[in-house]
Amino acid sequence: MDYQGHIAKTISAMGIDAVELQSLIVGQTGEKGDFALPCFRFAKFLRKSPIVLAEEFKNLFQDDRAFSKVEAVSGYLNFFVNKSQYAKRVIDEIILEGENYGKSQSGHGKTVVIDYSSINIAKPFHIGHLSTTVIGASLARVYAFLGYEVVGINHLGDWGTQFGKMISAYKRWGKRDVIEKGGVAELTKIYVKFHEEAEKEESLNDEARAYFRKIEDADPECLELFNWFKEITLKEVKKIYDTLNITFDSYDGESFFNDKMEPVIEELKEKNLLKHSEGAQIVDLEEYGMTPCMILRSDGATLYATRDLAAAEYRKKTYDFHKCLYVVAYQQNLHFKQVFKVLELMGKDYAKDMEHVAFGMVSVEGKSLSTRKGNVVLLKDVLEKSVEKAQAVISEKNPDLENIHEIAKKVGHGAVVFFALSSSRIKDIDFYYDRVLSFEGESGPYVQYTYARCCSILEKAGAIGEESFENLSDDEFELTKLLFSYKETLHEVIEKNEPSFISRKVLDIAKAYNKFYYEHRIIGIEDEKKKNFRLKLTKATMDTLKSGLKLLGVDVTNKM
Ligand code: ARG
Repeated sequence: MDYQGHIAKTISAMGIDAVELQSLIVGQTGEKGDFALPCFRFAKFLRKSPIVLAEEFKNLFQDDRAFSKVEAVSGYLNFFVNKSQYAKRVIDEIILEGENYGKSQSGHGKTVVIDYSSINIAKPFHIGHLSTTVIGASLARVYAFLGYEVVGINHLGDWGTQFGKMISAYKRWGKRDVIEKGGVAELTKIYVKFHEEAEKEESLNDEARAYFRKIEDADPECLELFNWFKEITLKEVKKIYDTLNITFDSYDGESFFNDKMEPVIEELKEKNLLKHSEGAQIVDLEEYGMTPCMILRSDGATLYATRDLAAAEYRKKTYDFHKCLYVVAYQQNLHFKQVFKVLELMGKDYAKDMEHVAFGMVSVEGKSLSTRKGNVVLLKDVLEKSVEKAQAVISEKNPDLENIHEIAKKVGHGAVVFFALSSSRIKDIDFYYDRVLSFEGESGPYVQYTYARCCSILEKAGAIGEESFENLSDDEFELTKLLFSYKETLHEVIEKNEPSFISRKVLDIAKAYNKFYYEHRIIGIEDEKKKNFRLKLTKATMDTLKSGLKLLGVDVTNKM
């Protein structure tokens, strides 16, 4: 129940604005109750001292069953929530909704486009793509859970002169069967070789440019190779998406917009936004404190930004989005600021609905990554290694467990995903296996373990009879409050596009549950009704954890 709203509404009968009232109410814990309202602000307006006002306000709550006590203390009003009534409401609702607890239709009729993962063709899928992939996928799930229509787009990096280099490299040193077998790793090898050779022999670059032009001119052989590179790359990444249970609605990437840029360029011209600069065509953004946005190179070639402008138009026309999000590293801050600004200057009203959901860099065990020259950590390897380590930990803790490998997969993958979503997205993060896989720390396995603990308690207990919500301990009440706040958290997630709010919340819930678990017995107590309440609280915790973990993209397991 919305206590703040309820308090504000009740007091607004005195002629005070409810919105202002609500903004003054603070949540609290401890001996002063659960909420407080300072009454000083209204003294002047109502011509009474805060002390008198607090007393008068207090009388408005005389018969209010939402609170067990309301007290006026030196100009403050302290509210003590009726804990048993509150707990009954919260727990009954969660148990009714199960793992759908928190689901709503609040976004009904609105479409959110999410551009995420957006890999580059013929490049390795390295740990640097982890954040965009899991943040985007989690946001997609949360929006859908709240009733929005979601369109997930993998805006493939499948255009640019590097594909001319790839063809040149392939024709010189590539072997079809070796590449079929070795995949992107083999493509990367010949690509690296191309760069080494081109340093010695400048003409290689001309050759690459010529090949790229051939792709543009739809030369059958070059186009076939280009599509083949694409196929190889997609086959590999799809395995990872399957592992992480991620799907996209569209793979329309850069090349898809080849024939859709002309109208945008025309429009820029018409609106007098295009300027010549050293042979190139740009939109001048100096007035807005930015370097120019390049639209056409001096050789007439389009750029990354040109494609993003065309993509924005296309997305608005095709999906009529309410919001369009770009989950891309903060290194591209300037790019998105420029693109959004250009759209605004073009008079596109929807520019205000676009957002760059930026995130920080990932390093592994203290080493930062660079795609150049071997220093890559593949996401696939990290996931595999994490499963291996999870398996070792679980086998040691619980050697008789059945299906250890299946469980280790959930724990190993879950640990990586949870880690990537556990601090605010803009922060740079450093991945250490031991920390990520710790069963005790602030980790995915810790939450999964708590979930499994709840399962085993409920399994032991069997059917749950009638309960009593009376005489809640502080531990029980605090846990109940956290479970209730989970629902609000989901709305905060989409407000800030910040999935880490969920990971923080499920961690808090898991910690509060474990505190409760260590300090109170659940099964085997005399008081049957108390026992049943504790079992229901356990069930509600389990449902909420499951809901949260699912939205993050982390699987649960009944045993571990
Ligand atoms: N492929 C790009 C990269 O890896 C990200 C693309 C993001 N999406 C976009 N519409 N620009 O850097």
